[in-house]
Amino acid sequence: MREGLSFGVDWYPEQWDESRWERDVDRMRGFGVNVARIMEFAWPLVEPEPGRFDFSLFDRAIGLLASRSIGVILGTPTATFPVWLLERGGSVLQVSPEGRVRDFGTRRMGCFNSAVYREASARLVSACAEHFAGDARIVGWQIDNELGHEGSDRCVCDNCRAAWRLWLAARYGGVDAMNESWGNVFWGTSYARFDQVPVPRKQPASTFNPSLLLDYDRFMSDSAVGFAEAQIDILRPRLGPGCFVTTNLFPPPLSLAIDMERLTRKMDFASWDNYPVWGEQDEPYPYQFQSFVESYIRGLHGGRPFTVMEEFSGIQGNVCLGHLPPARQAALWTNQAIARGANRIVYFRWRTAPYGQEQLCYGLFDTDDEETERSRVLAENLREASPAFAPFASTPFESRACLLYSKDNARLLREQYLSEGLYFAAADWAQAGYDLELATWFAPYVAFNVNADVKSVDSVDLDDYALLSLPLYQMADPAFVLRLDAWVRSGGTLVLGYRSGTRDVRNWNIGEPLPGAFAEMAGLRVRRFESLNKGKVGIRIGLLPAKGGVWADILEPTTAKAVAFYRDRGKFYDGSPCAAVNAHGKGRVWYLGTSLDPAGIFLLYRRILKEAGMKPRFLGNGVEMVERRTESGSLVRVVLNHTPRPRRALGRRIPAYGWTVIE
Ligand code: GAL
Repeated sequence: MREGLSFGVDWYPEQWDESRWERDVDRMRGFGVNVARIMEFAWPLVEPEPGRFDFSLFDRAIGLLASRSIGVILGTPTATFPVWLLERGGSVLQVSPEGRVRDFGTRRMGCFNSAVYREASARLVSACAEHFAGDARIVGWQIDNELGHEGSDRCVCDNCRAAWRLWLAARYGGVDAMNESWGNVFWGTSYARFDQVPVPRKQPASTFNPSLLLDYDRFMSDSAVGFAEAQIDILRPRLGPGCFVTTNLFPPPLSLAIDMERLTRKMDFASWDNYPVWGEQDEPYPYQFQSFVESYIRGLHGGRPFTVMEEFSGIQGNVCLGHLPPARQAALWTNQAIARGANRIVYFRWRTAPYGQEQLCYGLFDTDDEETERSRVLAENLREASPAFAPFASTPFESRACLLYSKDNARLLREQYLSEGLYFAAADWAQAGYDLELATWFAPYVAFNVNADVKSVDSVDLDDYALLSLPLYQMADPAFVLRLDAWVRSGGTLVLGYRSGTRDVRNWNIGEPLPGAFAEMAGLRVRRFESLNKGKVGIRIGLLPAKGGVWADILEPTTAKAVAFYRDRGKFYDGSPCAAVNAHGKGRVWYLGTSLDPAGIFLLYRRILKEAGMKPRFLGNGVEMVERRTESGSLVRVVLNHTPRPRRALGRRIPAYGWTVIE
């Protein structure tokens, strides 16, 4: 079935006097949308008292939307709960690792391991599922809202403490196996029973065993996945034909304990909330970062098209606002998401709320309901972009290159971040250093306009690719390394990064010389290294100068050939290799011992791409090109100009923040 491309809005009928609904819905039609997401924060409205359900407000809203041919995505409203739930006895509220209780009046405060919250959620979702069973006006369901966001991926309450011990017992069988695996002889932390194992509350100083922290993240992930899957299991049997189940994720997604691939496994596709600028940011994320996250979301479901469940329309913040992008740039973010694999764009939000915690979250329209510049420009864009983008929006994204991530390695780095260069606290609860480094490794594909995917080491099919980048793969799974080895021998090109293979799957430092299982493939040894933190080190690639950052592995090639050197009088290792390439079977392994600056990446990747048979094509900074295949099989080039000035590319003039699709 042809899915094409569709647009929608996030609408909150409960926040407006019903006398305004009809005009809103007429206007939505005029705007060009055919779907509205509703209800995701409405639990107290649909269950005003325990066990008494009332869907009348949403029935009327859905009826009105349907009368204008607008379908509905229903949020299961479990991200906030009614105040009466607190009075039912039993603990419900999350406790953050700092020991702070998340109070009622905020959101995401329900603990995934609270029996009270889980039972009440299941009863609510069952009531929703019954009420809307088979209803053709419901095109899909969104499970909860941004699961794990705002630090809710980590809770250390008593419910979690009890569940954690059961989880450990299930994982290790006996406590001795856990002691052995974590190395609990260290600091005398061996346990005699699972119920002695602490939950990792933040400490005034000193740290927990990193293996305990890693397992706790895995446990937290399983808790959230269990919570979401319980809802899916209730909904699935009652869905109408073609009705989908998804959930909306948010950037930066890799910094959380939750494995989003696991979280969305039983769903039909993943959705994402796209806010390139939020809160006090004084500029948007670089467009390469956006491309990276979009590719990651696409990769969660093997490349299936995804939905942007909340697309930026107006500026957003809770307590503080920042940079205002031109409306045309916001329109380009829509088009970029489609180019990278979205086939449904839902704008957040229809109209700015007059009151409440999000009165600084601006929608398409303001409270005065006048036309805004952004509503006009986004509507115009929708009319122009739809016919141009629809032919390929739902076709598979084709690429021969892939950036690989590892969820466990991301979890390890969140706490034990190695270098201040890998520490980026986007918020108190988000340490997004791993995401940023991965985005840096994705940037050359964007700069050289080579289609690339982002996939997990846990699910990637190596045979789909000719070129793989694998940064920060410290904790290496020997089975995966063997598969990589065979893939390289048969002709693949692998680009490894510093710290590769330094840990085994228990998170122990390996007992062989670095880079361990990769030593033969990469044809080198790493005996010395330095964390550069926020500092830089000079390097040379051929005659050209560049800089390295974050980390410096000092390479000692055995069979590899050095391709770049440290050139820095301030360093004793001045003159040592920092990057090398090794022929391995019919393929090649590149090893980058430092995090290269744009000049360095540019120089090396041009060579890597060429030698791997890809065609690097630089169209200028700020110009992004993606190749897509249309439903009828022809190849098109989508060119996006992310700059405030017109640019020429591929013989076309592209206006400021404009785009073109070339057959
Ligand atoms: C998203 C969230 C929405 C709203 C929005 C404000 O993260 O899903 O409910 O809070 O941010 O920008």
